[in-house]
Amino acid sequence: MCGIIGFTGTLDAKAVLTEGLAELEYRGYDSAGIAYVTKQGIKTIKTAGKVSCLKEKVESIKEQDQTTCGIGHTRWATHGGVSDINSHPHTAGRVTLIHNGIIENYQKLQAELEKKGKKPISQTDTEIAAMVIDDYYEGDPIKAIKNAVKCLQGAYAFLIMFQEFPGKIYCIRNGSPLVATYTEKGAIIASDMVALIKYSKDYFVLPEHHIATLTTDGIKITNLLDQPVEPKMLHVNWDMASARKGGYDYFMLKEIHEQPEALRRTITPRLKQGLPDFEEDNIGDDIFQGLNKIVITACGTAMHAGLIGRNLIEKLTRVPVTVEIASEFRYQDPIIDENTLVLVISQSGETADTLAALRLAKEKGAKTLSIVNVKGSSIARESDYVLYTHAGPEIAVASTKAYIVQLAALYLFAMRFAYVTNKITKEETKKMTEEFTCVISQVEKMISCDEQVEEIAACLVKTEDLFFIGRGLDYALSCEGSIKLKEVSYIHSEAYAAGELKHGTISLITDNVPVIAIATQKDVYVKTISNVKEVRSRGAKVILITRQDAVIDASLCDHIITIPKVDDIFAPFCAAVALQYIAYYAAVKRGLNVDQPRNLAKSVTVE
Ligand code: G6P
Repeated sequence: MCGIIGFTGTLDAKAVLTEGLAELEYRGYDSAGIAYVTKQGIKTIKTAGKVSCLKEKVESIKEQDQTTCGIGHTRWATHGGVSDINSHPHTAGRVTLIHNGIIENYQKLQAELEKKGKKPISQTDTEIAAMVIDDYYEGDPIKAIKNAVKCLQGAYAFLIMFQEFPGKIYCIRNGSPLVATYTEKGAIIASDMVALIKYSKDYFVLPEHHIATLTTDGIKITNLLDQPVEPKMLHVNWDMASARKGGYDYFMLKEIHEQPEALRRTITPRLKQGLPDFEEDNIGDDIFQGLNKIVITACGTAMHAGLIGRNLIEKLTRVPVTVEIASEFRYQDPIIDENTLVLVISQSGETADTLAALRLAKEKGAKTLSIVNVKGSSIARESDYVLYTHAGPEIAVASTKAYIVQLAALYLFAMRFAYVTNKITKEETKKMTEEFTCVISQVEKMISCDEQVEEIAACLVKTEDLFFIGRGLDYALSCEGSIKLKEVSYIHSEAYAAGELKHGTISLITDNVPVIAIATQKDVYVKTISNVKEVRSRGAKVILITRQDAVIDASLCDHIITIPKVDDIFAPFCAAVALQYIAYYAAVKRGLNVDQPRNLAKSVTVE
């Protein structure tokens, strides 16, 4: 939700901010704005629409002097509709700020301010935060911020400029992320590394409830007792090219193609002498001791990775696993204790509900392990154990490579767990990891089925409703296939357990309703095919995703996509690629902006 950036140094701040916002745009793209220091004071330019609209507006204003300090924001609207006035930055008196998060008690604060005769001009919670800080401001920015945050409830990352302190940016966060770095060109802070990578691969995460003061000379961090704090430096192992489209039409397509490499980076370092090994992740085998239950919690695609993980962990270890939507888990008084492992999955490591679920799990005494892509993110820092996935930055809102490496991490976890608890022998484990490694090249082969899937997806251009069906792992995969299609192509779809369809939903199957049937699992293959016949005989148009070696009656389906030969348990890796392509090409054929789907945002840092 919302991308924010601040810079003070020797470079042209307007350029740094607008370029940075273009990188951060995947976090929200309703409106954008910047505020920067000029000799005449702080100026603000903002507009509804994309960063490109802001850029045009900025370029049309000829400034006499170069500006070297400013803040910028790209918005995903929460409170207050999409309009110029509701765009950030917001100014109240001597305070100009940008915000990522939600101030939950803004109405109460607004009422108090109105009693003092102070009225906002926008409908946003953010303007109220600016007014509260200004209300406390008596010449000392840090004092005003400290007093103001005592009144604010909710999540926030603020970058704040004070009229009387040009060249300085004050920052504080609660929940919402902020990463920062300092180079000889100046100090820069942003919601995530994609905006910083141009300047440095070394960075730090601003600790929560600490104030960072950015000046041209450096970044000073103090806690709320005004004591200086040394940040913990981190390093990313990807570069600018990873955050760019690199010749692809869309990031989503680029990221689909990056999957074999992402898998290699996630799997290979964790295989020692043919066995899954988490030594370098500092995860000892004691994590498995006494475990009698695993709860996987996550949101969206990450939760769908969990559905596959459940299947595999239960199959290999016979330990019961449940998968809970994080926003539900946190309010259902979950039954967990010190013998439960709560496994949290998140690409960004910042999803508000997932983070809250993790905190609840810890509070209840459960062990926590997170599977996270973004290094140093809140979920990673707060979990007892972390298994980092190595997808590199994922920019397209629709998750592809992050999903596949989440699966990989879950598979490694399941195999190690089964091995150390003697559910599978050393030899069986080695055989399994060998096959697992081969999956990478099979995914590579799958990537080259794009033309075939493109043709099939062309038939979906006019489709309004569609069903995905499958059993077991194929059902878990159907859930992901369905969300992928919905989010980028806006075709309504539902994922159904193939055997359940006839209990109501089959009434929606009429002539030419497409059904995407996934049948990769030998043990339930015949059953799924029976379900395919049921929909087929009611007029459905069937796209079948199945195994290369399956014997298929040609009259069974209209289109067929086969996956390379892999052991059944690894089929999801290959089939996922087909599903990603279906969603991608359906969206492209419908002329949509694949990377920035309507109403969505990449990292959901509000509840
Ligand atoms: C958003 C994204 C999804 C993602 C979900 C969870 O809804 O659009 O692609 O799966 O958040 O995000 P996380 O960063 O926690 O994996």
